This record gives sequence, C-alpha cells and structure tokens, in this order.
Amino acid sequence: KQISVIGVPMDLGQMRRGVDMGPSAIRYAGMRERLEQLKYDIIDLGDIDIPLPPQTGSEKLDNLRNLNEISEGSQSLAEEVDKVVEEGRFPLVLGGDHSIAMGTLAGIAKHYENLGVIWYDAHGDLNTADSSPSGNIHGMPLAVSLGIGHEKLTSIHGYEPKIKPENVVIVGARSLDEGERELIKERGIKVYTMHEVDRMGMTKVMEESVEYLKGRTDGVHLSLDLDGLDPHEAPGVGTPVIGGLSYRESHLAMEMLYQSEMITSAEFVEVNPILDEKNKTASVAVGLMGSLFGESLK
Ligand code: ARG
Ligand code: MN
Ligand code: MN
Ligand code: MN
Repeated sequence: KQISVIGVPMDLGQMRRGVDMGPSAIRYAGMRERLEQLKYDIIDLGDIDIPLPPQTGSEKLDNLRNLNEISEGSQSLAEEVDKVVEEGRFPLVLGGDHSIAMGTLAGIAKHYENLGVIWYDAHGDLNTADSSPSGNIHGMPLAVSLGIGHEKLTSIHGYEPKIKPENVVIVGARSLDEGERELIKERGIKVYTMHEVDRMGMTKVMEESVEYLKGRTDGVHLSLDLDGLDPHEAPGVGTPVIGGLSYRESHLAMEMLYQSEMITSAEFVEVNPILDEKNKTASVAVGLMGSLFGESLK
C-alpha cells in the first residue's frame, strides 16, 4: 500500500500550547522506519501551514475560540487530503488537536458515498457553540462533520454534511457533555463507552463495530485521539480522563481493524510532547500505527 503522511501543527482548537508539535514528536518516535519495515511506500508531505492565533482580543467570539483561523487551516488540510485520496494513496494525518478532523474528513468524504468513521476517544467531540462548556473547537469536530455547528466549519471544502450519523462508531467514551448525550440519542449514533468495553471486552466491541460498518459503508476513516487511552499509557494529552482504554486493548483494536481490511484513512491526534513523559505518547501512537498497518506478532 502507498501511504502519504500529512502533519498538521494545529493547537488553536484548545487552550494548551504544545500540541502543534505533535507531528514532530510522532515522526521523531520512528514512524517512517516502523511503516517502511512493513513494506509500505511512504511519502511524507511535511506539515501544512496553520494560521497564527488571532492577535486581537476577539478570539472567543460566539463561544468558538479561534474560529476563523481554524476554518482556514481546515480548508488547507482538506485540499491536501483530497489530493492524496485522488492519487489513490492512503492519507495518514498527524495532529495537532482534534479540530483537524473537520479538515481531514472534508478532504476524504467527497470520495465516498457512505464514509464510515471510527472515533476512538474519551470524548464525543459532538459539541456545538451552544452546548460547549469550553468554547474549544477540538470538542466539536464530529458534530461539525455531521453538518451540525457554525457555517464556517460545516461548509469547509464546500459541501455538507461530510458523514451520516448512522455511519459513525465511537469507542472509549467516558466524558460526554449533556448536549452530546442528547445528540447521540437524537441521531442514533453508535457508542461503545468504557462501560461496554468493560462488559463485552474489546474483542466483541471491535467485532460488532466492524460488522456494523461493513454493511453500510464504502470506506472507513479511523480518527484516533490519544486520550482514548488511559493517561497512564498516554500522558501527553491536553484533556486526559482516567479510566481509559489500555495499551493492549488499543493494540487489539488496531490489529482487528487491520484484519478487517476496511480502513481507508487514519489520523492520530492530540499528542502534546510538552505534557508528555519522554515522548511516550508519540511512541504509543507509532506502535498503534504498526498494528493498524499489519505488524504481526508471529
Ligand atoms: N467535551 C469537552 C469540550 O468540549 C472536552 C473535549 C475534548 N476534545 C478532545 N478532542 N480532546 O470542551
Ligand atoms: Mn502555536
Ligand atoms: Mn478526546
Ligand atoms: Mn477528541
């Protein structure tokens, strides 16, 4: 397979600086070598340009911090990702905070009739300006991709919605805001919270997820927020939530996704090397890529 890597040094979707260095941290953790060992043809396209934060005092207008800059950066990302898909290559996007998923999905989804999404995360990222407790746009990209939110975000790359609620599966959720819960019910989004993972085990969760998406989608994007993992395994994230997915559960999930042969694009987000312990979180991300791309244990 042919993989094109795109780095997105975005930190405007939340308030802790440093996550813009996520792409460097992931590369430094040996991503290229890891994937080349698996005989992939890798092209690293480098990092896209992200606007500077606004210099005025109006950056949290309408409970949407850095709206214009994020919208602009997402458009650049969408164009870059779009080209990669057009070329028939697999887009592997490195964050950056999770707001980048709006751009990634905008670039990918127009190539599919029914793009599926696996949202591996402690959070739902289903807020709107009205429901968000923080005004941080990294808590909104899944809602935006469903066409729910500010027009400057939902219209990125000139069409909406990008995805349909019935084509989404959230795995690992344990911190959902009130408005997000309502949206999940209202739109019938499939969610495996930590409760289900504990009860059913990751094997069953992934078997069901794959089965569910297989029937209804023509491509599946993996959006993996490192805070889906427990902070013990992935401490370098801006919004850690205790009680998360283990290292082994996460590898198992990636291995099963590899075996499913359904993943057509992926992104790894929220790696913040400033908050990390000796680049541990970036190393975990690279290890998970290894499993997702077919590193075998035998
Ligand atoms: N639900 C919270 C908010 O909207 C936290 C979101 C965290 N999102 C993330 N991608 N880490 O502010
Ligand atoms: Mn910065
Ligand atoms: Mn999260
Ligand atoms: Mn997230």
